[in-house]
Amino acid sequence: MVMVSATEMMIKAHEGHYAIPAFNTNNLEWTKCILTAVQKMNSPVIIQASEGAAKYMGGYKNVVDLVRNLHDSMGITVPVALHLDHGTYEGAKACIEAGFTSVMFDGSHFDFDENVAKSKEIIEYAHSKGVSVECEVGGIGGTEDGVTSNGELADPEECAKIAGLGVDFLAAGIGNIHGKYPANWAGLNFDRLNEINEAVNGKPLVLHGGSGIPFDQVSKAISMGVSKINVNTELQLVFAAATRKFIEEGKDLEGKNYDPRKLLKPGCDAIIDKACELIKAFGSDNKA
Ligand code: 13P
Repeated sequence: MVMVSATEMMIKAHEGHYAIPAFNTNNLEWTKCILTAVQKMNSPVIIQASEGAAKYMGGYKNVVDLVRNLHDSMGITVPVALHLDHGTYEGAKACIEAGFTSVMFDGSHFDFDENVAKSKEIIEYAHSKGVSVECEVGGIGGTEDGVTSNGELADPEECAKIAGLGVDFLAAGIGNIHGKYPANWAGLNFDRLNEINEAVNGKPLVLHGGSGIPFDQVSKAISMGVSKINVNTELQLVFAAATRKFIEEGKDLEGKNYDPRKLLKPGCDAIIDKACELIKAFGSDNKA
């Protein structure tokens, strides 16, 4: 099966009241681990890369080739979409040209009229190429690729306007933030989620900052229209913790454990286990 746009899997998830896991990739190991987990769990997946991660990985074309080649060589049969995370206007266009099957245009830092105008253009261009589009209203808190937003709760009227442009799925702030949640985090704002869900008239919603949200809140958000959950930090944390443990126990000094295939294995196994756990929590297992 070739890589697909995210449109169909998102519609099915929205109708079936589960969420598609959108895991950020950072390199070869991450991509292999994500694909291993989704195939094992029989789950559709959105593999996404930020512009910064894509640069680290050698550019958009390299990301497309990596995901496509692994998809083929690993014999992956579950639906896989390759998505640009938090794209700029120029980045979204470049990814569409490079072969991404889905893009996010994040115009949330522009004034609203400019966000609308640019979102409209990207949606038209992407759809002419069969590529799905996510747009964002209001900032998501936290820091990503050096950009910090204040995490205002999104305005339901603005969400309705962007939804009306024909976007495929919409990211809207509901108290979620990127990165680790602080101990005094107030939790997701379900009143605002309810207002947004009513305003967008059945448009699937995206929950950014999906690392570390208690599963009861995740389930409630899914029941209220969230159909894509973004996870980056949590896979990074389990990888780092498992690698730290291996080294602190001195195991890298045994035999040929300095070989990266051995040194990185505990971290990779931890990514696979965490991804499988999240897939279950999002309800996308056996939905391929
Ligand atoms: P976390 O890093 O908090 O999981 O957020 C990921 C994300 O929302 C990517 O857009």
